[in-house]
Amino acid sequence: MVQETGRQEAIERLAAVIGECRKCPLWENTHCAVPGEGNAGADLMLIGEAPGKQEDLTGRPFVGRAGKFLEGLLAGIGLSRDEVFIANIVKHRPPGNRDPRDEEIRACTPYLEEQIRIVEPKVIVMLGRHSSRYILSFLAIEFDRITEIRGTVYSGSLFGHPVRLIPTLHPAAALYNPAYREALEEDFRIVGRELAGAGESAAQD
Ligand code: URA
Repeated sequence: MVQETGRQEAIERLAAVIGECRKCPLWENTHCAVPGEGNAGADLMLIGEAPGKQEDLTGRPFVGRAGKFLEGLLAGIGLSRDEVFIANIVKHRPPGNRDPRDEEIRACTPYLEEQIRIVEPKVIVMLGRHSSRYILSFLAIEFDRITEIRGTVYSGSLFGHPVRLIPTLHPAAALYNPAYREALEEDFRIVGRELAGAGESAAQD
């Protein structure tokens, strides 16, 4: 287990490494990397897909319209973005917001894995099919459509640490679709319940 006081430093050291990363060509068309940010000792980690335009300009994840919607979902379960850790599958913006390619995901995900090892979250919410596919592969879980599995709570162990994994839709998908918005709100209520449960079981330990 990473010592509590060391987590923030470890996250910052890793962010500096990510900022210099040239392991795939994605960096070539970007302003900067978007390593991820938040509370390095958070119970909840959120994993998106890739930075968009606003994120590329600011170096911060989920600061555009989807991010504002995400902040509302967090507020609905009594959390602010400073209390959670927010990361992405890939840390540089793909040109034109295209989907990240397999080789880019392969090059970049060791950073995400290191972030999970440092933060040791109790609950991970995967926002959209890319992060859901990647994270659930550790539990050998495959799926065709994110809508089939969204809101399911998977219990497992990631890098030797027990965790609940909850796939849901990407917040950007909800911006123009009220049904998706309701689905995300429903899934975040499940996230709130899981976090409360994780707190209770820790108190009993
Ligand atoms: N979409 C994502 O998946 N990640 C971000 O950081 C912003 C938008």
